[in-house]
Amino acid sequence: MDLKDKRVDYNKFELVEEHAGKDPYALFNLWFSEASETEPEPNIMIVSTSHNDQPQTRVVLLKEVKDGDFVFYTNYQSSKGKALEQNVKVSILFFWRDQQRQVRIEGIASKVAAKESDDYFYSRPKESQIGAIASSQSDELTSRHALEDKFKTLEAHYEGNAIERPAHWGGYAISPKSFEFWQGRASRLHDRLTYEKVDAAWTRKRLYP
Ligand SMILES: Cc1cc2nc3c(=O)[nH]c(=O)nc-3n(C[C@H](O)[C@H](O)[C@H](O)COP(=O)(O)O)c2cc1C
Repeated sequence: MDLKDKRVDYNKFELVEEHAGKDPYALFNLWFSEASETEPEPNIMIVSTSHNDQPQTRVVLLKEVKDGDFVFYTNYQSSKGKALEQNVKVSILFFWRDQQRQVRIEGIASKVAAKESDDYFYSRPKESQIGAIASSQSDELTSRHALEDKFKTLEAHYEGNAIERPAHWGGYAISPKSFEFWQGRASRLHDRLTYEKVDAAWTRKRLYP
């Protein structure tokens, strides 16, 4: 595969200090709402963790930004859950292709309160609740068939029984320490603004592209 001649010129928007403002959350909200106009899943969030010094990256779905924290839901016993037991430092990334924008966030992950995980778990469709119970996420699975069988057995079991959120399924809240907003520009002279939290206040800087 040779992609050396594949290039797109970025020229749709600009990111200048006067419009960016001092509050990274306000800028994130603005960019998120603009991405929502064109992207079916603007809440696709790439989360990187580190386990035994090995970075690992995967997509999850951002479910809310609450009290400044970026929240997603998962299995606490998955690979990412194990990584987060060891190292709470994470980076997350949003890429909004139509707007030629990227947002990078670095921060600290912690589990959300059980009540919050309950509220979200019980708001999901019954099949998703059973799916979460059926999946020992990231463990080896002998066959697709075994998973479907397990799902069917659980479905039959929960026909007449109440479903309970498994204790190993819940949310993580990522508290940002820094944001970087990247806007593609012509001639590769892209705009990059970083926001870093210093003594509870955000300081903004421009970086070379
Ligand atoms: C569009 C998309 C959305 C996803 N959303 C989630 C999610 O919200 N939570 C989750 O645990 N995995 C989600 N996944 C699956 C993860 O990318 C990953 O395969 C899974 O969490 C296991 O990762 P791990 O082995 O690193 O723990 C999603 C994948 C895609 C492509």
